[in-house]
Amino acid sequence: MSDTNLELKTQANNYPSMQLSDRHLCDLELIMNGGFSPLDGFMSKNDYSSVVNNMRLSDGSLWSIPITLDVDDKFVAEISSSPKITLRDKEGFVLAILEIENIWQPDLEFEANSIFGTNDTKHPGVNYLLKTSKKNYIGGKIEKVLNPQHYDYLNLRHSPDMLRSIFKKKKWDKVIAFQTRNPLHKAHFELTLRAMRKLNANLLVHPVVGMTKPGDVNHFTRTRCYKLIMKEYPKSSAFLSLLPLAMRMGGPKETLLHAIIRKNYGCTHLIVGRDHAGPGLSSKNKPFYGPYEAQEMLVKYQDELEIEMVPFKFMVFMPKSKKFKAIDEVDQDEEYKTLSGTQLRQLLNEGKGIPEWFTFKSVARELERSNPPLTKRGLTIFFTGLSGSGKSTLANGLVSRFLEEGSRPVTLLDGDIVRTHLSSELGFSKEHRSINIKRIGYVASEITKNGGIAICAPIAPYHDDRILNRELISKEGGYIEIFVNTPLEKCEERDAKGLYALAREGKIKEFTGISDPYEEPKDAEIVVNSSGGSPEILVDDIYKKIVNLGFIKEIK
Ligand code: PPS
Repeated sequence: MSDTNLELKTQANNYPSMQLSDRHLCDLELIMNGGFSPLDGFMSKNDYSSVVNNMRLSDGSLWSIPITLDVDDKFVAEISSSPKITLRDKEGFVLAILEIENIWQPDLEFEANSIFGTNDTKHPGVNYLLKTSKKNYIGGKIEKVLNPQHYDYLNLRHSPDMLRSIFKKKKWDKVIAFQTRNPLHKAHFELTLRAMRKLNANLLVHPVVGMTKPGDVNHFTRTRCYKLIMKEYPKSSAFLSLLPLAMRMGGPKETLLHAIIRKNYGCTHLIVGRDHAGPGLSSKNKPFYGPYEAQEMLVKYQDELEIEMVPFKFMVFMPKSKKFKAIDEVDQDEEYKTLSGTQLRQLLNEGKGIPEWFTFKSVARELERSNPPLTKRGLTIFFTGLSGSGKSTLANGLVSRFLEEGSRPVTLLDGDIVRTHLSSELGFSKEHRSINIKRIGYVASEITKNGGIAICAPIAPYHDDRILNRELISKEGGYIEIFVNTPLEKCEERDAKGLYALAREGKIKEFTGISDPYEEPKDAEIVVNSSGGSPEILVDDIYKKIVNLGFIKEIK
């Protein structure tokens, strides 16, 4: 650490601190390393308004997406008399000092409409703005103390200066950047190779490893695949570097940002294909942007940005010639093949091999290893329902069925077991119930990540807690919610533990269904009612449904 940085670090203790989110950390890294040049801090109110209204910073330079530091009201109150704040990572390391220029409350709906062209929260960028972002922005210049820490793939991470000097050393004066958030397959390889040949240029494979679209292949798997595909390029023609960008999935406007970043990293060209930085489908199942809208946007501004676009149409495989072609070069009656991301996921889920025309063998092997078929993947079965609804009986029955089947280790996290071993200090207030459910979710996600089956059976009365667990666990493997929808009257009639009687007498407070709410799930994969059939029949029924969902091999 230099003397200036050391001095800043000492100063940092004099100011109020804030812990940065994942998005902030990515943005800060690109502000500090020059990837976001000319930004020298989080946007001030002037720059923000100018970007939202005119797609330019207040000095007139092009900029398409706000880079902002969002904070809650409590923090704003805490820092009211401080000229600066200290920005820390999750472990408390001081990364930077921000000199406060202004604090304001943005109109987030307006920002969503202006930047993303919609306020539909199916758009990941809009969803972040309207559901996650805090309501105040702080703008100001950054004084750097330390780069955000990374522990993975250190030899593949470069600042713009580092890449520029690598290109200089290699005497590469024309460098085409390839932006991606997916594993690379033969179509991408073909397309990059064509671009390199046509322009007589070199290639920078520049995948985003900061934040991408929820559900994307994780960056560890992707990077293993990138390393494999780099071996396929002609010797010394292409270079791989990882970019710590937090994507907003902003389509055309994000494409403009990608171009600015790549210019900063020393590239002369940027490949833009179909639906660049596309956010997926809207709540009306329609695309948010046209397939080539991003290309149209960049064409307009490429001169001003001083980086040239290399446009590409969708590439398809021609089985007869065994070659790839751009879709607009295919004759009407010519047969061609494509494989969408969803189809690829399905092949992996079902353990069917990835076709050789689609990807290199080494990449296919890596993807298959990282994404075993559903029958071998970790899984959480999350029962929810009133006390006495039959959750524990069904969960125990299911544990035995899985143990008989024997494909993975099984762990039962029943409500009572958890409250004895994990949550013994907790009561039944809303806050404590949430903590309890989050703990169960955390343990289940670890079990799922490591290929086991976690069977959870708490009441879990609150929708938001269940959603958080679903999101956390789905990243690691399968997730099946089972709503045990036994009517309250039946649960009360059973009253196996005598708790309902005590609750009615007011001797137990906040009792679910009596004096505390139970928010019924609307999106459970399986719904059962234990009032009727025997537990054996119900367990059998649930087991068959899990087989049908693909997580257990069909019983022959
Ligand atoms: S929660 O809401 O998910 O945190 O509850 P959970 O951990 O599953 O614990 C529920 C069991 O605790 C007993 N119990 C109560 N339940 C609901 N409300 C109140 N106030 C309460 N006090 C004690 C009850 O026996 C629950 O067990 P199950 O197995 O659900 O019958």
